[in-house]
Amino acid sequence: MKKQKLVVANWKRPTIRETEELAKRVREKFEFFDDAEVVVCPNNISLLETGRILSNSLVKIGAQNVYWEEKNPCTGEIPASMLLEANCRYVILGHHERRIVFNENDEMVKAKLTSVLRVRDIVPIICIGETWEEFKADRRDYVLLEQIQNILGDAQFSDKQQIVVNYSPIWAIGTGNVIDPAEADSAVEVVKINLREVFGYKFTDSNFRVIYGGSVNSENARDFGGQASIDGVLVGGASQDPDELFKIAEEISK
Ligand code: PGA
Repeated sequence: MKKQKLVVANWKRPTIRETEELAKRVREKFEFFDDAEVVVCPNNISLLETGRILSNSLVKIGAQNVYWEEKNPCTGEIPASMLLEANCRYVILGHHERRIVFNENDEMVKAKLTSVLRVRDIVPIICIGETWEEFKADRRDYVLLEQIQNILGDAQFSDKQQIVVNYSPIWAIGTGNVIDPAEADSAVEVVKINLREVFGYKFTDSNFRVIYGGSVNSENARDFGGQASIDGVLVGGASQDPDELFKIAEEISK
C-alpha cells in the first residue's frame, strides 16, 4: 500500500477572521480527501477556533511554536500541555524565521522537543536546513548532521512516538527560489542516513518522516512527491489559498 504523504500548512500571515474563513473552506474542500495527511498550523490566537471548525474532519491541527518549560510559567509563552488541551496533534519547532528573529538555537529547539515528548500525543516537526552560503560552500550535509546531533542526538523516544524532520533550505523559504526536487531528495536522504545511524533502521523508517519545505506550490508539488525519500511537504505562502492547498495535496499524492 502506498504510504500517505504529509502536507503541513504553515498559516503565518492570515488574520483571525481570515484564518476562520480559511479553516471553513479547508473543511469543505478536504471533506472526503484522505490521499494525504493534512495538518494546518494557524497562529496561536486562532488555534482553538480553527480546532473547533475542523473538529471531526480529516484535517489535523498543529501549532507554530511551543515553550520548553511546563512547571515554570513564562509570560506570553504556551507550554506543550496547553497545546494538547487545544487538540494540537503537531507542533513546528525551530522554524527558520524564529531562529532569525528570536535567536532560537539548536539548544532551545532541543529543550522544546524534550517538553513536547513529555506530554506525548504531539508530533514534533523539527526544522533544519542550511543557508545559501553553506549550500554554495558544499557544507549542506555537514550542517544537517550537526543540527541532527545537536537537537536529536540523545533524544529518548517511546516506541509509538512519531517525529517529523522538516528539511527547509533557508534560501528557499518564502523566496520563490525553488530547489531542484532531486537536490531536495538527496538532502532528505542525508537526513535519513544520519537518523538511521543514531536510531537504527527500524525505528527511523517506522517513526520518522522527513519532509521538504520552501516555496512549494501546486506546480512543483508533484515533483517533490515523486522523489524516493521525501515523505511530504511544509507549505507557507501557497497554503493560504484553500484551492492551492488542495491541489498541492492532490499533486503530491499522485
Ligand atoms: P514558503 O514557507 O512555502 O512560503 O516558502 C515555507 C515555510 O514556512 O517554511
